[in-house]
Amino acid sequence: MAKQEKSFTTKAKFMLHGGDYNPDQWLDRPDILADDIQLMKLSNTNTFSVGIFAWSALEPEEGVYKFEWLDEIIDNIYSIGGRVILATPSGARPAWMSQKYPEVLRVNAARIKQHHGGRHNHCFTSKVYREKTQTMNRLLAERYGNHPALILWHISNEYGGDCHCDACQEAFREWLKKKYKTLDALNKAWWGPFWSHTYTNWSQVESPSPIGESAVHGLNLDWRRFVTDQTISFYENEIVPLRELTPSIPITTNFMADTHDLIPFQGLDYSKFAKHLDVISWDAYPAWHNDWESTANLAMKVGFIDDLYRSLKQQPFLLMESTPSAVNWHNVNKAKRPGMHLLSSMQMVSHGSDSILYFQWRKSRGSSEKFHGAVVDHDNSPNNRVFQEVAQVGKTLEQLSDIVGTNRTSDVAILYDWDNNWALDDAQGFGLKTKQYPQTLQEHYRTFWEKDISVDVITKEQDFAPYKLLIVPMLYLVSEETIARFKAFVANGGTIVMTYISGLVNEFDLTYMGGWPQGLQDIFGLKPLETDTFYPTDRNAVTYEGESYEVKDYATVLEVDSANVVATYEQDFYESTPAVTSHQYEKGHSYYIGARLPKEFHRHFYGTLIEKLELKPAFSVQHGEGVSVQVRQAPDKDFVFVMNFTEESQVVSFPTSVTDIMTKEEMIGEVTLKKYEVKIVEVLRN
Ligand code: GLA
Repeated sequence: MAKQEKSFTTKAKFMLHGGDYNPDQWLDRPDILADDIQLMKLSNTNTFSVGIFAWSALEPEEGVYKFEWLDEIIDNIYSIGGRVILATPSGARPAWMSQKYPEVLRVNAARIKQHHGGRHNHCFTSKVYREKTQTMNRLLAERYGNHPALILWHISNEYGGDCHCDACQEAFREWLKKKYKTLDALNKAWWGPFWSHTYTNWSQVESPSPIGESAVHGLNLDWRRFVTDQTISFYENEIVPLRELTPSIPITTNFMADTHDLIPFQGLDYSKFAKHLDVISWDAYPAWHNDWESTANLAMKVGFIDDLYRSLKQQPFLLMESTPSAVNWHNVNKAKRPGMHLLSSMQMVSHGSDSILYFQWRKSRGSSEKFHGAVVDHDNSPNNRVFQEVAQVGKTLEQLSDIVGTNRTSDVAILYDWDNNWALDDAQGFGLKTKQYPQTLQEHYRTFWEKDISVDVITKEQDFAPYKLLIVPMLYLVSEETIARFKAFVANGGTIVMTYISGLVNEFDLTYMGGWPQGLQDIFGLKPLETDTFYPTDRNAVTYEGESYEVKDYATVLEVDSANVVATYEQDFYESTPAVTSHQYEKGHSYYIGARLPKEFHRHFYGTLIEKLELKPAFSVQHGEGVSVQVRQAPDKDFVFVMNFTEESQVVSFPTSVTDIMTKEEMIGEVTLKKYEVKIVEVLRN
């Protein structure tokens, strides 16, 4: 079982509640700034992220700095007992800078130089931009580093995107030279002779482009890796003065997720970035009450990504942004129904967040985010539903300070890999639209979520040894080194599950020759021979323990060596051949699932494995579908979150006496949860 020590994610030992605060938009309205302080108290908020996008207020002209307004804001927040997360303003730069130093502007993949505008659009290689951010950050650290309100640095905002300017091309070539040493090695790794793509001079190498090269998979993959490294290098440059002047203030930057399926952000390899942060923070905007899935289905996806971001550092994370009501950038920006704000916030805490922070504190009056949800609306009043629900979250968080720094323990790990996702997306083959790697992982996560069994979603460089069960769906790209680590894990008694479309290419995106890698054959006792890709109307099924389960999208034809066949195909030219297998390898076990199978199969298959491996929830509560029970474990007690993600009342049953943290009421046996209700109970550990 993965064990974690109590660790503090910020300098505060209470749950953070508050969010992005942009007083720089209101400097000509002292009345509004004064109201903010009163409203902060009324909303039970305590932490404010300031300075994000405030560069033009901090340095209105080159070399002319104005910090007095920020001094006052930070002092005022502190005067009411509040804390500050101070951002570096590099997420958006002032117009004077773009005008005077055009090199800070990005060039896009089509080689078009971007104009000034928007935000998040600077070149990560630009010397000038790096110098300017470091100068600004040094001034911030000198001025506020010792302020008692400061608990955390927030570096830039949602790093992402790439730049294809000449400086970036040069940096990319240097990165490649370091990696490959010789052009010959690069040509080999990128399969150069294909379509005559052999380079004879480093200067011929250019980043992928819709008007140039896009078909060299090794290049595409290396470009994405370079973009991650270059972004981290930019970030490392930003934090030099902060590490030097404020060594005790932790540092984060806010990560993202795709909204529709809540899958991890694809632009950067966060498993690499995580190593450079003291605490992971991320911005979550699930489309609650959408018209394509149930509330519980979306809650399962939120659980999955929370468990990934928590597992990146195996410690609690911070919810850096969320909305108290609607956002402004979904196709339909629907308000959270009554109760959903508390429920969705507590779900975050239950999976490891030490904060509930919002974008945004006060709704802006103009520009593109003037209708984005906020704690304080244009009515400037505490007397509305959204404000009141925020205040209720604040009251609840006040009862949860013992949770801060505590983690969860898991016997189960699912492996997510950014390199794999990039390579698989790029792979021209299989079904171009049905690969859906992250969504497939969610499907494997589902049964554990439904049964309240904690899962760590880990990345390949992490230690597998603490887990009883390691699930590795669709690991198309896998190095010999990782295969050797899988082998050691199983040899030592671990159980591994792998699926179709795994083990096909190495870390250069070159296929394995001579069949499936020998290491995988040893673990699984079989060889995949062919992958059959389905049209949506194609039908096949597998028979597993007397039940029939329909196949979708993919079926692998297998040649079994020493594996046991546990399910077979029902139709087609591979009728009656193995579809799912099990195998003993040294002290451990392996399972290979050859086809994409529905959730009913996963419930059956993993249900059996859960019993066999004696996997248990941290605290057992009986409940029906759509209720989730998640646990944070403090040294002496468990905090159990019982959450109703359905539109009906649900009866749950507590096996032992528990205490409601809000009402202090003791409960045992059956308890009814209303639609969207969450109960948080304490259970003392013996
Ligand atoms: C992102 C940004 C914020 C804001 C929100 C709106 O998360 O970081 O500045 O634009 O989106 O949802």
